[in-house]
Amino acid sequence: MQLKLVSPKEEYAELFYLWRTQPTFIKHNPLKLQNLEECRARLLSEGDDLQSSTKCEAYRWFIELGGEIVGSVSVSNRNEMMKIAEIGYAVDERFQGKGIGSLAVGMLVTKVFAETDLRKLIAFVHDLNIPSCRLLEKVGFKKEGLLRQHYLINQKPENEVLYGLLREEIEAP
Ligand SMILES: CC(C)(COP(=O)(O)OP(=O)(O)OC[C@H]1O[C@@H](n2cnc3c(N)ncnc32)[C@H](O)[C@@H]1OP(=O)(O)O)[C@@H](O)C(=O)NCCC(=O)NCCS
Repeated sequence: MQLKLVSPKEEYAELFYLWRTQPTFIKHNPLKLQNLEECRARLLSEGDDLQSSTKCEAYRWFIELGGEIVGSVSVSNRNEMMKIAEIGYAVDERFQGKGIGSLAVGMLVTKVFAETDLRKLIAFVHDLNIPSCRLLEKVGFKKEGLLRQHYLINQKPENEVLYGLLREEIEAP
């Protein structure tokens, strides 16, 4: 599969917003961004250079498949003291179930460990988001715990599974 992680462009804001209105996203994720303008502002605030000395609140790349933008992956909550960060990802519903998410998150993890000295990546996943749990396990993340009623999703408290991946787990042959 010809998959690339590419830098954000302002024109991707509409797609980025569209994915947030799709049922698989709404069902399992807190809706932090409510409209196109908030999505545009978020993209403009994020970085794409993990090695830059100017640290950003979040970093994002878009997933390109055969010239088409089909999803995005991100790094946030980068903690330089603890050397950990959190990842996020979404694939357009029209392209889900084809292995794109697993491949793109695998590429993200390789990139982050190659370009930073972070020790560990974590992800929070709604415990009913089976594709997302499977994706992380395929990439090598381990389930570390269940956070009870941790996020409000559609005004309802929902459990989140905490997943973690250590640098040495990805570098091991
Ligand atoms: C989670 C998400 C990124 C997965 O993307 P994807 O491109 O469909 O992932 P993959 O095709 O690599 O599939 C990953 C695993 O999920 C499984 N899967 C995919 N869609 C599924 C579905 N509808 N039902 C059950 N399992 C599913 C796949 O079979 C695969 O497991 P397998 O290899 O053991 O068969 C995508 O569902 C998504 O964008 N969801 C909305 C946003 C979101 O929830 N992001 C995660 C926040 S923590």
